[in-house]
Amino acid sequence: MAEHPGPSPTRSAGSRVDVPTGTATVGHQWDGIEELDTPMPRWWLTIFYACVVFAIVYAIAYPAIPLATRATPGLLGWSSRGELAKELTAETARQAPMRRALAALPIAALAGNPALLDAATRGGRSAFKVHCVQCHGGGAAGSKGYPNLNDDDWLWGGDIATIATTLQHGIRYPGDDETRQSQMPAFGRDGILKAGQIADLVAHVRAISRQAPANGAATRGAALFAENCAVCHGPAGMGNRELGAPNLTDAIWLYGGDTASLTTTIHNARGGVMPAWAGRVDPVTIKMLAAYVHSLGGGEAAPVAAAPAAASAATASDHGRG
Ligand code: HEC
Ligand code: HEC
Repeated sequence: MAEHPGPSPTRSAGSRVDVPTGTATVGHQWDGIEELDTPMPRWWLTIFYACVVFAIVYAIAYPAIPLATRATPGLLGWSSRGELAKELTAETARQAPMRRALAALPIAALAGNPALLDAATRGGRSAFKVHCVQCHGGGAAGSKGYPNLNDDDWLWGGDIATIATTLQHGIRYPGDDETRQSQMPAFGRDGILKAGQIADLVAHVRAISRQAPANGAATRGAALFAENCAVCHGPAGMGNRELGAPNLTDAIWLYGGDTASLTTTIHNARGGVMPAWAGRVDPVTIKMLAAYVHSLGGGEAAPVAAAPAAASAATASDHGRG
């Protein structure tokens, strides 16, 4: 330091009072320029000491100093986890009367209680975000193989009680004895029909869904349809909810209505699986979920709505849910 050329601080004999300002100097001088020892303003010092005191009090009262595995707990015993637990407890308590009422009310009677229905629908919306969006999408619009729950096209039925049953037991879910069950045969893979016959059936399905004009192939397909498919999809292809067999005449496709998708469907068959929710969420939440799904736009009123193709359901007593 001492070898630096140029100006360097030199300690003067001592501090003195600077005459024009009346303030003491710190006692340093740089090329004759002295530094004044101006005191901090009082307001600043007051705030500074208040902050110090606050920090000390805070560190004693609240969790503050990190230790090896956790922080010092603080005298007040406050923690963000404890706060969350308290809020959850309060929320559970707030919901308890609603949940009790919902538990006591048969699902079919829910529509007659608008306040409870509204609360259930809101609860169902939250539960849907947790349990259902992975497959049915955030807006419940579904995707290939996962049905859109907003429309009025139902595989298994759209009244609130039927939806609740679907949720409770799942669809083709191996872990549940009462799961919704039905399996379309793999007509091509299992050698029931030849490739040419499947092509004729595809032409027929495309004709009844008004995607293509009815041609010769479609006419041959119609005969095959009556023999092989009508038992589940109904003579006119309108579907059968007892069996979860989709309506083939509308523009709504679970797996696709183009020639390639239809060929694959008829060759291999499909068999969508939805887990049973009975063991995963509590019965009240199932009611809430059913209320929410029912509210999405396609909800149906009366449980009598499972009308189409009731005739062919007779052949399916082992599948149907009486
Ligand atoms: C692992 C994927 C998966 C999850 C998670 C899932 N679903 Fe499904 N869900 C499906 C599939 C696949 C089908 C169609 C099954 C079939 O082909 O019949 C279905 C069908 C349904 C149906 C029947 C629709 C109809 O047209 O009859 C309803 C209602 C439904 N789901 C609601 C829900 C709700 C509510 C949840 C959340 C609790 C949920 N799903 C979670 C896969 C899932
Ligand atoms: C045993 C009942 C049964 C028979 C017989 C049957 N199906 Fe199906 N079919 C179903 C079921 C159930 C589904 C829905 C599968 C799913 O949800 O994963 C289905 C789905 C389909 C689909 C898919 C529809 C879509 O929206 O993507 C087509 C197409 C179809 N069937 C055509 C046929 C044709 C053609 C025949 C006759 C060769 C036939 N089915 C015979 C039960 C049957």
